[in-house]
Amino acid sequence: MQYPDLTTATVSSSADVVRVVQLTDCHLCAQPGGTLLSLDTDFSLQAVINQLKARYPNPDLVLGTGDLSDGGARAAYQRLQGYFGQLSEHCFYLPGNHDNHREMIDVLGDYPAMAGTVRAANWQIVMLNSQVPGEVGGCLGAAEIKRLVQALDRGREEGLYSLICMHHQPVPVGSQWIDEQMVSDAASLFSTLEGYDGARGVLWGHVHQQIDWQRGSLPLMATPSTCVQFAPGSENFRADDLAPGYRLLELHPDGTISTTVERVEGIEFTVDLESGGYL
Ligand SMILES: [Fe+2]
Repeated sequence: MQYPDLTTATVSSSADVVRVVQLTDCHLCAQPGGTLLSLDTDFSLQAVINQLKARYPNPDLVLGTGDLSDGGARAAYQRLQGYFGQLSEHCFYLPGNHDNHREMIDVLGDYPAMAGTVRAANWQIVMLNSQVPGEVGGCLGAAEIKRLVQALDRGREEGLYSLICMHHQPVPVGSQWIDEQMVSDAASLFSTLEGYDGARGVLWGHVHQQIDWQRGSLPLMATPSTCVQFAPGSENFRADDLAPGYRLLELHPDGTISTTVERVEGIEFTVDLESGGYL
């Protein structure tokens, strides 16, 4: 069952440029100190946040793009607020395959934290739900595509540029095992976006690695996890030894996006690289 959310949150940005932080795939366990491939996911998320606080204080808003918990535990979402809230009072979340959407809404609140669309300056950020309950793979479905069309129509009427966010990847990233989980109706997504000049970027998580590609002029962006990384170009599951990371985005008044991915520096993280899987 999907829980479509038609609410719109508005954030007043401090300048014309909207400064956004994306954190994704935090995989917080039910108990603090829980691990994924031997990595303490609370510890790695706090390390990410510490670096962000030192380097990029006071972003206009923070996006959490799914798999914020590892098993959908209520306690994980309660701790999540404590972590993200260190960066901004404007934090917005969408669910991934590891999340329990109902628990997310119960703990984080359906508005504004789980708002369907976030507006800031002359931008709107459309938060889509690609989760299919009980499945690892993603699908937007007719209801989310319809909501996207409504948001884009409204954005066109009001002169807003749009950044579209979801959890699963809408394009193959080159690793067979995880590309089996990509958004199954990505063709509908892209055929929709092609009709709107104001659609200026697609952003996701799930693949635990950096992607900065273009589809025509449309930026396609995926971001490292705040915990374990996946090795690119892998036929079967393989973890990578790169550090936890995050993405910074600047949404400019002319409809362009500047973006960089950074990783935590100065800390040794121990990950079980021999693991055959993480699901
Ligand atoms: Fe995921």
